[in-house]
Amino acid sequence: MPSRMPPGHLSAYEYISPVIAHRGACGEAPENTKASIELAARQGAHWAEVDVTISADGVAVIHHDADLSRCSDGSGLVIQKKMAELKALDAGSWFAPQFQGETVMTLAELLTLANHLDLSLNLEVKPTIGREAETVWAIAQTLKAVPFDHPLILSSFNIHALHACKTQLPHLTRALNVEAIPRNFIERLEEAGCQGLHFQKEFADAAQIQAVRQAGYHLLTFTVNDPDTARNLLQMGVSGVFCDFPGRMLAALNGGRFSKANH
Ligand code: G3P
Ligand code: MG
Repeated sequence: MPSRMPPGHLSAYEYISPVIAHRGACGEAPENTKASIELAARQGAHWAEVDVTISADGVAVIHHDADLSRCSDGSGLVIQKKMAELKALDAGSWFAPQFQGETVMTLAELLTLANHLDLSLNLEVKPTIGREAETVWAIAQTLKAVPFDHPLILSSFNIHALHACKTQLPHLTRALNVEAIPRNFIERLEEAGCQGLHFQKEFADAAQIQAVRQAGYHLLTFTVNDPDTARNLLQMGVSGVFCDFPGRMLAALNGGRFSKANH
């Protein structure tokens, strides 16, 4: 896989790997932290997915929940804390004591780290409802400040966020996140000019997957930690799976048809 995205190339899916580290290697390190991203890279992942939102002062930050309590020693909403307040939190101890000192990463820090580790990225935009355009604006500003020339996919469950991506970052590959594959998937994907559809594995349906592929769109599935399930999905036509244990998954798949050497 090329480590650099050729200029003017439209679809990052051309470089996708069958295993995408979900929130980093979040089964073995605190999700969305530097430790989790570094572990994913050490385990051989070429792609990582993270969740992106904004702080009260408009900085793009890597965090899954709107609230801080599950993944840090803080509480309250991410969007109501300034970046300096977020940086003062411990985002590692909740997972295991050896991760004490991990912090809430900014998108700028993540881009620098991923450039260094040669990782491609799926940034899942998780805006506060009503703050979609601001969230994407913060992402766009960060991408200007920290150039990232590896393959990059912007995805979201939120259609307003995807519209903002299309307007503000039109050159980047976009994907719609859903639970089940919508029956009117073409209409839904075309609405925000998406090249991909990311869906929940429990809703996998071979005929629907085939229809999406035949229409020319790419599919990724979350969250898949069982290698047999991953093999089935890949055989059905899914291009990759989001996995909490990328090392184990790569080791299992490398013994089969979907080795990295094939991609
Ligand atoms: O982007 C794929 C997956 O991460 C979507 O669900 O809740 O894990 O962000 P979630
Ligand atoms: Mg996510």
